[in-house]
Amino acid sequence: MNDDNALVRVIQDLRTRAAGAAPGTRLPSIRELTGRHRASPVTVTRAIRQLVADGLVEARPGRGTFVAAHPDRHPLPDLSWQAVALGPRPDGEEAMQALLAVARPGTIPLSSGYLDAELHPVAAIGAALARAARQPAAWQRGPVEGREDLRAWFAREAGGGLRADDMVICPGGQAALSTAFRALTAPGDTVLVESPTYLGALAAARAAGLRVVPVPADVDGVRPELLAAAFTRTGARLFYCQPLYANPHGAVLATARRTQVADAVRAAGAFLLEDDYARDLTIEGEPPPPLAADDPDGHVIYLRSLTKSVAPGLRVAAIGARGPAGARLRSARVLDDFFVAGPMQQAALDLVTSPAWDRHLRTLRKALRARRDALLAALRRHLPAVTPVCVPRGGLHVWVGLPEGLDDTELAVAAAAERVVVFPGRPWHAAEPLAPYLRLTFAAAPPDVLDEGVRRLARAVSALD
Ligand SMILES: Cc1ncc(COP(=O)(O)O)c(C=O)c1O
Repeated sequence: MNDDNALVRVIQDLRTRAAGAAPGTRLPSIRELTGRHRASPVTVTRAIRQLVADGLVEARPGRGTFVAAHPDRHPLPDLSWQAVALGPRPDGEEAMQALLAVARPGTIPLSSGYLDAELHPVAAIGAALARAARQPAAWQRGPVEGREDLRAWFAREAGGGLRADDMVICPGGQAALSTAFRALTAPGDTVLVESPTYLGALAAARAAGLRVVPVPADVDGVRPELLAAAFTRTGARLFYCQPLYANPHGAVLATARRTQVADAVRAAGAFLLEDDYARDLTIEGEPPPPLAADDPDGHVIYLRSLTKSVAPGLRVAAIGARGPAGARLRSARVLDDFFVAGPMQQAALDLVTSPAWDRHLRTLRKALRARRDALLAALRRHLPAVTPVCVPRGGLHVWVGLPEGLDDTELAVAAAAERVVVFPGRPWHAAEPLAPYLRLTFAAAPPDVLDEGVRRLARAVSALD
């Protein structure tokens, strides 16, 4: 007898009984359910546990199982007072919800910011986490800034003057961004950002009360002359930048621009927050070193996360800076949530220092290349009017320009009706975009699914014509 079928039968039976009975009514015992559904006691217990979690059933140890008080039977609360108490909704919240929404079954997600599950090194990370969980020390309170050996790994990866003591471990890059904006600025300050840029950084900066000023970027990254002008005009002391495979537009900061950007930052007496989110996602060639590797006077705040190259559930990242800026980051981090769970830190270190790590990166590189090329080929085949801004040499996304007259938001809505999820370009800009764009994620699906996704997108474009 299939256990899953038996589980479904017991759940359905209990649901039906609970729906038709008053709260407090006793439900059949485990023994009765076992006989009636020819299910094992383990299966019946699992079914009851699920219904308890759903709030339909209450288990009273030693006495049996009873129908729980049904939430729908309470009168609907009047929550309208909250609109007055809370005031307007913060900017950018909807875009963040859309970014993290889980695609409905049957839809093709060309919008996720992470690798799809097939590309996660599940066996390696599972084994690392199991080893970590067995070690009592992993559960104890360690240094609030995170394990020294893990901080040392992140500092070495940054490749410059940063040391373990300069780094602090964070539960992912988003948390690190929020901490950095809060630690290094005061509400009302200005932060400069590339345009377009990561919408989560825009949301975090706004949540920190910052005025966000965009500086245009092109296929070679941010434009240094406009960056220098923006520093002069605004007096900003912080510039958020992704020099490598920038999300969403895929640009790598060109070699000639690296010095110009560093000069502009130094001349302004400012910090550059380097979000190196995609260092492990190289598809072609060797990535240039982080800007932090050539930063003699401590202008660069370095941020690196493992969520993109491992799995979104491995919420381990690090942020670091030298001097008082580093100290401010560490103090701000403690206020957020004290420290990152010890087993997670230990598992992350175990993974990135194991032979499995290099193997994973090599496999990933091949898979990302195949997926990027499949997406580009599908665009040429089904949607030649939609043009990639560049062929990204790494990362997870292709940024495409739409033909004039096509609205990115309308297209995203029409695409959802065709069961393909794409991200419109508008929320990635801190000001009005000059043209309509879409961000298409090639890492989120295998090549054949990408082709079908673009085919559906083409149908959505035709529907708007
Ligand atoms: C550029 C960039 N930075 C940071 C993050 C935050 O990622 P996480 O918090 O999962 O590390 C993202 C996620 O999409 C991103 O694209």
